[in-house]
Amino acid sequence: MAEPVQQGEFGFTMRSSGTDVTLVSYDELYPREPGRALLEKQCMYCHGKNFFPARQLPEVTWSTFIDVMEGKGSERGAMIPPGTLSAADRATITAYLTKHFGPAATKRGLKVDADFPLDEAALGKAMYVEYYVPLDASLDATNKQRRTQEPHFDPDGNVWYTDRSVPNRIGHVDPRTGAIKDFVLPDPKADPHGLTVDSRGRVFWAETVGFHLGRLDPKTGAMTRYPMDSTGQSKGRGHTPVVDSRDNVWFTVIQGDMLGKWDAKTEKATVWKVPTQGAAPYGVTLDKDENVWFAEFRRCKIGKFDPRTEKFTEYEAPTQPCTIRRLGVDSKGMVWYGGFNNGKLGKIDPRTGKIVEYDIPMPFAEPYDVWPDRDDKIWISDGGQGGTLIRFDPQAETFTYFPTPQRTDQPKLAITRDGAVWYTPRSSSKAAAGVLYPDVGKMTTPAAYY
Ligand code: HEC
Repeated sequence: MAEPVQQGEFGFTMRSSGTDVTLVSYDELYPREPGRALLEKQCMYCHGKNFFPARQLPEVTWSTFIDVMEGKGSERGAMIPPGTLSAADRATITAYLTKHFGPAATKRGLKVDADFPLDEAALGKAMYVEYYVPLDASLDATNKQRRTQEPHFDPDGNVWYTDRSVPNRIGHVDPRTGAIKDFVLPDPKADPHGLTVDSRGRVFWAETVGFHLGRLDPKTGAMTRYPMDSTGQSKGRGHTPVVDSRDNVWFTVIQGDMLGKWDAKTEKATVWKVPTQGAAPYGVTLDKDENVWFAEFRRCKIGKFDPRTEKFTEYEAPTQPCTIRRLGVDSKGMVWYGGFNNGKLGKIDPRTGKIVEYDIPMPFAEPYDVWPDRDDKIWISDGGQGGTLIRFDPQAETFTYFPTPQRTDQPKLAITRDGAVWYTPRSSSKAAAGVLYPDVGKMTTPAAYY
């Protein structure tokens, strides 16, 4: 596979250049037969539109993989929720896959002829800057590209990122000088995903391999790794950390379906199983009352955990099934999320439980992160058509497009108090920390502060 299947993420944008993949229209790729709707409903909400056409497998192999998806012999448990795929539908899907993506088929991908709706007046004020992370001699021979994952600001205005190329690192760019400093992790193959910074400037990262939370003290360079479950009783793959007002670190556990808390006083971590099996907890954030909100990636729900009562509440997205990667909470307490597979922007009002979904106007939209700025405009990172940031105005219900300099997805956003939108172009040809100034005339400093 072209990407790490252990993340359960299939969100990389298919590239046309330099590969033997022919790009064709959606209808050509997926002929309109009964198998198509079933494949969309049962498989593609997780796998995306380019996964199946990249494979040419005989019937027996497709069938074996569907067994695995139903949980047979799989360490991760069932991907397809039990009781939701009938024997007849399963047979139709297998036949459809074998007919269109069998050994005689050619490698194909989805052609997206994106003509972004561009607002010249808005774009005229905007500026993108990308700080390229240099390639260097320490890179693993099998992994010649660096891969930045998640931006985060420290109290000094630097922008930190995780780097998932091997050797794994965390690092930061100082936007005032462009200087980049990297720290190779104690376990260079731990595959760090999310990252956060506490009030003292200490940087925490969550490892997807090995079930540890790491901490760097940038002043001394000292790094410590903590088990994500201090009792040692559970196993899993960590995902995204977030710091609360007491410098405790909350984190999601994507494989193992848990939410965890590392206590700043005891330096011990506790985990809680989330209510839904197969949820794959992903993005995480806190509201003003420090409830912990997280995306249930594979089960199309948003979860809330109240640390005082240790109770979970789940909100089911109206359009099922779906995948939701990340979420954000605005200043009024509204919870925003993106339907990664279905191009929806969702809003939950936790006081009433009411959920509204908006259609992102372009076809094949893949909203990844959804994050409010200081004015409660919602920013969406969308890699579906080659890479764009989108500003949604909740009052006017309008979407403004800011296509990215490189073809890429952008898995996480961090927005400064001045409204500068930082992102990491993950599948781009040049790894970077990037920033969009939507109104460069209002920029007061290149430094990044929350
Ligand atoms: C809820 C999400 C989800 C659904 C639904 C789902 N998959 Fe998967 N699939 C995954 C994940 C995650 C993996 C990687 C799994 C692993 O390594 O255990 C995977 C792996 C696979 C693989 C193996 C990939 C490789 O090359 O190693 C195939 C093939 C596959 N799925 C086909 C299907 C088919 C066909 C369906 C529908 C009948 C389906 N999947 C439904 C999430 C899903």
